[in-house]
Amino acid sequence: MLDVRRWALNVLYSMKRAIYPGSFDPVTNGHLDVIGRARKLFDEIVVAVAHNDEKQPLFSLEERLALLHQALDKIDNVRVAQFDGLLVEFAVAEKASAVIRGLRAVSDFEFEFQMALMNRKLEDSVETIFLMPKEEYTYLSSRLVKEIARLGGNVSDFVPGPVAEALGKKFAR
Ligand code: PNS
Repeated sequence: MLDVRRWALNVLYSMKRAIYPGSFDPVTNGHLDVIGRARKLFDEIVVAVAHNDEKQPLFSLEERLALLHQALDKIDNVRVAQFDGLLVEFAVAEKASAVIRGLRAVSDFEFEFQMALMNRKLEDSVETIFLMPKEEYTYLSSRLVKEIARLGGNVSDFVPGPVAEALGKKFAR
């Protein structure tokens, strides 16, 4: 029995795990594309929803988690979690070796570069890996999706069905 436990712990500890953090307010097809790429590189991806985000989110933490759970329901080796406080502390607690961030355009670079280097300064054992989403998602952002939905536009090409529905309800006139 003890051997089985030790074996299970060994498997758990030797897993290559990465954190994909974000606000996910709400999750878009661009996020899902990045997750799809990341899961080919790691044994497990932890999609981590920031709890104490300084931005005022449209969707509550519970709503953002639920929408992610629905979008990732049938996808292996992806887990949805929430985190509070420093990202690198969460990564260490999860025994993750990397943080994944999507890079859409040069305009993302400055902030992402700063964050990656600051995270490295805070915790040298966690690498940041940038992944480029499919070209058709390079102009996609949660912020624009919310704006389009708020103004009555169709967002079904940009987000999973349940997210489009949830946006419709938020902005029902
Ligand atoms: O989807 P976002 O809003 O671009 O995600 C930003 C996020 C949540 C990844 C970032 O704000 C973050 O890591 N917050 C946790 C607090 C933290 O560790 N701050 C120091 C970053 S150098």
